[in-house]
Amino acid sequence: MKSRLFHCLLCLLLVAFLITGCGESAKKQAQDGLLLGFSQIGSESAWRIGNTRDIEEQAENYGISLMLENANQKQENQIAAIRRFIAYKVDVIAFSPIVEEGWDNVLQEAKDAGIPVVLVDRDVSTESEDLTTCLIGADFYREGVMAGEYLIRKADALGLTQVNIVEITGTENSTPMRQRQAGFLDAIEGDERMSVLESIDGDFLKSRGAECMRSLLETYGNAIDVVYSHNDEMTLGALPEIEKAGFAPGKDMIIISIDGGQEAINVLKEGKINCVVECTPKLGKELMETALRLKAGETVEAVIHPVEEEFTDEMDPSDIAPRGY
Ligand code: AHR
Repeated sequence: MKSRLFHCLLCLLLVAFLITGCGESAKKQAQDGLLLGFSQIGSESAWRIGNTRDIEEQAENYGISLMLENANQKQENQIAAIRRFIAYKVDVIAFSPIVEEGWDNVLQEAKDAGIPVVLVDRDVSTESEDLTTCLIGADFYREGVMAGEYLIRKADALGLTQVNIVEITGTENSTPMRQRQAGFLDAIEGDERMSVLESIDGDFLKSRGAECMRSLLETYGNAIDVVYSHNDEMTLGALPEIEKAGFAPGKDMIIISIDGGQEAINVLKEGKINCVVECTPKLGKELMETALRLKAGETVEAVIHPVEEEFTDEMDPSDIAPRGY
């Protein structure tokens, strides 16, 4: 609440700066502390909402002034937000890029202004590698590998000789979409039982997860053995469609999800999801510590991956602690 009030105050100061050009005096008020501009992708999932909340809470814990902008799923809004952070002369810029390409110009502008940029959650693909200082986020490739390795163990346990997979992917050209797909495909590559019938773009959204599942069921029906979904939100959209079509998720079809939000874990406990690979949204602490080190002129690690685990029907689900997102 406190941080929201402060955010409103900062926004008012920013408007004053843009109108009167008195950015320096506005900045003076925050100069003793660290001013961090953060552009969030949007609010597409419980994961994303948990990530935003964590960053707000940790900024408050560390006494860091946060200018938080929500891009509502649009890259152009993120680019405009970064330009506002540059105009406001923040100490550090952080952002979660919705897709990997298209950032060269605005990141060059930040570099020219001497403002370090931290990537949170997702990566970028730029011509020059020195436009960003570091990445704090999950190892999405490893998540895909964990999903694939679980599937091989499950197929062994069930004695399956043929495994038909449908994949509901996250936002096209985003890092988690690319890496979760690559890791999964690499993990199952040598297993001749595995066959991917179709990969379909669900954009990390629950509504799209439902639409994709309807379309996959219409095309493949009971030929589907496995649904591999790149996030919980799409999985939770797909499950009711599977049930409406007369199948029991978790039994007639193996369901594999990624994120590990509380709602998906509850459904895992009901036996309707078989495996959830964790992707933690709790990146705020690392972000604040990195921002402070950058402001102090220290060097930081190029990549920071949080430690993540998996939750499966091979374990006792009552052991899973409350997830907090
Ligand atoms: O980039 C992380 C992904 O984005 C999460 O898996 C998903 O839920 C979110 O929308």
